[in-house]
Amino acid sequence: MIRSALMNVMVQAAFKAGRSLRRDFGEVEKLQVSVKGPANFVSAADTRAEEILRTELGKARAGYSFLGEEGGRTEGTDTNNTWIVDPLDGTTNFLHGIPQFSISIALQREGTLAAGLVYNPVTEELFTAERGKGAFVNDRRLRVAARSRLADAVVSCGLPHRGRGDLALFRREIAAVQAQVAGLRRFGSAALDLAYVAAGRFDAYWERNLQPWDVAAGIVLVREAGGFVTDLVGKDTVLETGDVIAGNEAMHNDLLRLLRESAKPVPATS
Ligand code: IPD
Ligand code: CA
Ligand code: CA
Repeated sequence: MIRSALMNVMVQAAFKAGRSLRRDFGEVEKLQVSVKGPANFVSAADTRAEEILRTELGKARAGYSFLGEEGGRTEGTDTNNTWIVDPLDGTTNFLHGIPQFSISIALQREGTLAAGLVYNPVTEELFTAERGKGAFVNDRRLRVAARSRLADAVVSCGLPHRGRGDLALFRREIAAVQAQVAGLRRFGSAALDLAYVAAGRFDAYWERNLQPWDVAAGIVLVREAGGFVTDLVGKDTVLETGDVIAGNEAMHNDLLRLLRESAKPVPATS
């Protein structure tokens, strides 16, 4: 497969940061048995990975702006092009020695998501997409699943957890979705969840309260694989709201309807 110069830059940066994460993940697996645990080590691991990405992307595309989870936003001389980067998506998995985490890199060009890459350095699955050029896992072209009935669907989600998200709303949502689908999953890396929708592994996915770096690359993957991505009211404002639904057209519509119904205020009981 021939990659564009832009995608080559993204892939080389991801591979370099991936080697660093893979080494650190090996250490984390050993640290599980220590009393202090690997928490401090992990926060150093993602800072290290972000530094590698910032340096490598900066070397190849001097002047591009950069938004990273760890270091925040740096305006470059070229404000039309911004990298949106999560150096380690799935930190909780990484911390617990679970190999479901990823590096996520997107390029936003003049306000539009132009390219996305999601890379799991343990499985070495590399998901890439550029606007108008299709989506791929390694060298294989991706297409969202063709299933159209919720009854056959495996749907992924994100769970609100301690101190984050609206638990009562999520319980209503999960009750509504659970009753209709073949299976629900919570894998713990939003970027990989979207990549799996693009790959047709998950039929649909939804989550609330995400950050741009969790979803930017995955949005390009799903759209280039023929899928639909919106926020939870059907608008194209996922990066602004942090709420996301993805799937093929039918699944996206059905899930949107179910979630909208569950978000309606519950009538007060007298
Ligand atoms: C998290 C993952 C997870 C999602 C969380 C995110 P992080 O990102 O994407 O799947 O449920 O809301 O914060 O913290 O591991 O980079
Ligand atoms: Ca993240
Ligand atoms: Ca992260």
